[in-house]
Amino acid sequence: TGKFTYDPGFLSTASCNSTITYIDGDKGELLYRGYPIEQLATNCDFLETCHLLLYGELPNAAQKADFDHRVTHHTMVNEQMQFFLRGFRRDAHPMAVMTGLVGAMSAFYHDSTDINNPEHREIAAIRLIAKMPTLVAMAYKYSIGQPFIYPRNDLGYTANFMHMMFATPCEKYEPNEVLVRAMERIFILHADHEQNASTSTVRLCGSSGTNPFAAIAAGVACLWGPAHGGANEAALTMLEEIQRNGGVEKIGEFIKQVKDKNSGVKLMGFGHRVYKNYDPRAKLMRETCHEVLTALGLHDDPLFKLAMALEKIALEDDYFVSRKLYPNVDFYSGIVQRAIGIPVSLFTAIFALARTVGWIAQLNEMIGDPEYKIGRPRQLFVGATARDVLAINKR
Ligand code: CMC
Repeated sequence: TGKFTYDPGFLSTASCNSTITYIDGDKGELLYRGYPIEQLATNCDFLETCHLLLYGELPNAAQKADFDHRVTHHTMVNEQMQFFLRGFRRDAHPMAVMTGLVGAMSAFYHDSTDINNPEHREIAAIRLIAKMPTLVAMAYKYSIGQPFIYPRNDLGYTANFMHMMFATPCEKYEPNEVLVRAMERIFILHADHEQNASTSTVRLCGSSGTNPFAAIAAGVACLWGPAHGGANEAALTMLEEIQRNGGVEKIGEFIKQVKDKNSGVKLMGFGHRVYKNYDPRAKLMRETCHEVLTALGLHDDPLFKLAMALEKIALEDDYFVSRKLYPNVDFYSGIVQRAIGIPVSLFTAIFALARTVGWIAQLNEMIGDPEYKIGRPRQLFVGATARDVLAINKR
């Protein structure tokens, strides 16, 4: 004891040097490779953002065409993956399915499993980015008993995802520009967020030399938790519960419960470990949220009215203001996804789809770092000191 720094929750431990994402929590600033998130979300598409995170620079036109082509031509998954997926119960949680499917990729793509080989890592990166939308859509179709829909190479990344989600063999999906752009924005805003729990998990897992698919599967598993990526699902579940128990009229009672520390009730989709003034992603997502509700004529939908009432209270009530608890990105992204017609249980899988590029970029950065070693935190031991084992009749 005394030899190691005790830092539960890693509040003051920097685990690596990184050049990927910069966050200033006090200023509410988020930069990917130096570019403000506001500019990326407004001027770039998701694959440009992926190129930036992976290779350090936004692509020029030729690089963009090449990158888009490579990703587009890896969107199909090995046909055998279907049989693996079919082993799950239809009511399995999509994140349980995704943890399994992403892990199973290591068993399908033998030319991209050596984490120390840059060529393997490059193909694994393209495969993961390309196939995540296909896997998420397959998990969804399976859960509702519809046939899987194959990817379409004539559509952009996000429109193709929506096609695989919403088309059926009997009906074509007609892309709605506002909704595709909203989904694209969700992807961009969730693409990376420096050393959060799932990214740190991916780095730690990858540091043992395991294969890239296994490391990303570990990230998916970590993201599932309600204090992390599961917050968008938890926020919508919370809204639905308040709605079932009386709606807007009952907000006051609910807030009382939240303030009572013994109740264990938290306002899901509010608060952030790093952003203590505001979450710049939430500001952008809020804009998108209103655009989508307007485009779909949903401003009068009771659930969305309830969400807006809750937002207003949290922005004014002293409990939330004094603790700097603002709506975070997941509060609005949950509302947007529900409006688009995505089932609540799929929200976190979509977060995983978007974060995959960030996880891979972080993994590549770690492997390329000459100082990288297997991650091995120490502990302060506070258990029993050495003692002797007694015979069983003396214990
Ligand atoms: N509802 C009610 N009270 C809260 C909440 C909340 N959502 N979040 C924090 N508090 C209170 C907390 O009880 C504490 O009060 P006090 O000072 O009286 O003890 C104070 O605010 C400070 O909170 P903290 O627990 O020290 O904050 P943290 O930095 O450890 O936690 C958090 C951050 C995100 C885990 C937490 O705010 C939370 O659980 N929020 C709800 C879940 C959520 O929306 N998570 C998504 C985060 S954004 C997506 C992502 O990056 O994954």
